[in-house]
Amino acid sequence: MLIRSDRHAGNRLLGPEAGALAGRFPHGFVWGVATSAYQVEGAAHEDGRGDSIWDEFCRRPGAIKDGSSGEHACDHYHRSDEDISLIASLGANAYRFSIAWPRVQPLGAGAWNERGFDFYDRLVDGLLERGIAPYLTLYHWDLPLALQEGGGWANRETAERFVEYAAEVARRLGDRAAAIATHNEPWVVAILGHEAGTFAPGLKSQKVAMQVSHHLLLSHGMALQALRAERCAAPLGIVLNQAPVHAATDSPEDLARARLDDGLTIRWYMDALLHGRYPQDVLEFLGEDAPQVAAGDLDIIRQPLDFLGINYYTRNLSGTGTPLAPLDNGREVTDMGWEVFPGGLTELLLRLQADYRLPPLYITENGAAYRDRVVDGRVVDVERIRYLHRHIAAMADALDGGVDLRGYFVWSLLDNFEWADGYAKRFGIVFVDYATQRRTLKDSALWYQAFCAQARAAADIASSTAHGRSHGR
Ligand code: FCB
Repeated sequence: MLIRSDRHAGNRLLGPEAGALAGRFPHGFVWGVATSAYQVEGAAHEDGRGDSIWDEFCRRPGAIKDGSSGEHACDHYHRSDEDISLIASLGANAYRFSIAWPRVQPLGAGAWNERGFDFYDRLVDGLLERGIAPYLTLYHWDLPLALQEGGGWANRETAERFVEYAAEVARRLGDRAAAIATHNEPWVVAILGHEAGTFAPGLKSQKVAMQVSHHLLLSHGMALQALRAERCAAPLGIVLNQAPVHAATDSPEDLARARLDDGLTIRWYMDALLHGRYPQDVLEFLGEDAPQVAAGDLDIIRQPLDFLGINYYTRNLSGTGTPLAPLDNGREVTDMGWEVFPGGLTELLLRLQADYRLPPLYITENGAAYRDRVVDGRVVDVERIRYLHRHIAAMADALDGGVDLRGYFVWSLLDNFEWADGYAKRFGIVFVDYATQRRTLKDSALWYQAFCAQARAAADIASSTAHGRSHGR
């Protein structure tokens, strides 16, 4: 591992505005980094891990742009100690990661794999020893392949298997987890996995996709009920990808399409989770493709949430034209082709606050891919620093607007397996040389390290001053 010895490098990267920004966050605000199991662990066939739908999907010719897979990824499974030290060296006080279901229950039903649980046990203990809070996600897309063979998420029984898995993880790790999220981005699982077919399991049916989305939400509600019945100590919630939907033009067609997309991506999930109903306009649009919903399902889905995680990368431009006109006029984009649009984060958070009675929120993912290169031991990723700074500022604006935001997680700690894009897209604040598994802190990591330290120091000073004042009264 390469940790730069120049402790002032990060401070030099901060820039004059960073001090003021750092001072805008409350005491106890969580500054973290995030990964997910299949994207970083590797060791896909070790210690009894079963195949997941992503192992199978990656074997399909053409499914992954560079023909790669998560087979080795960042070898985090063998390097977790080193990676925990890396997180500690950044001064981040939280790590969001996911459990690979097929590692702890290879067939998705029946026997537990003790060696799989040993890994997560060591990971969680290692984090706690270094003062890093473990934020655990149960499902970040790697369904045990055996369950897919029985219909996967299109089969209602998969929700029951998920609850058994969730309860077992909670029994073993719930006392030490800072939070447990059921699902990561159910929209992506349902739509990219079952309608667009660009993600595992690669199906192409709107009807199946919507049934899947219902079963994912149902499994979330059922899991929360089960975990609470067992008095799981960890706060429980879910993580959604959300982006404000903007119409590409003011034409009535584009405005109507944008409203529908808002329904399909935001209200479908938020209305179900927080109001216990699916939006009527979306149900009408779906017609025959609307999911089968059994009596009582929506009451199960609407469980109290201890927190809601939001993953934000860009806004969603929507319209009927192809290509969408406004995308063509020289907007700043990342290496994913995603527009850099920090104001969308503030807009989204204020809108959610206006429309729903929200639990505490976390930004559970935010970050950007750029074409990074190591030159003389250094990765100069000025654009990523700018991206992070601007999105952190957008969060501060939402805080000023009264949004109950509790923390922020950079996606990602490490460059990793970016799903259908393989290893070509680098989201890490730490560069990974996949041939040697050498990690190099990018400038953005040094920036984040310095920024978190400043934010914490500023919040400490503010809270001790407030404390002093209240005592003086
Ligand atoms: C999110 C995923 C995460 C990562 C980022 C770039 O949709 O949750 O695993 O791929 O996008």
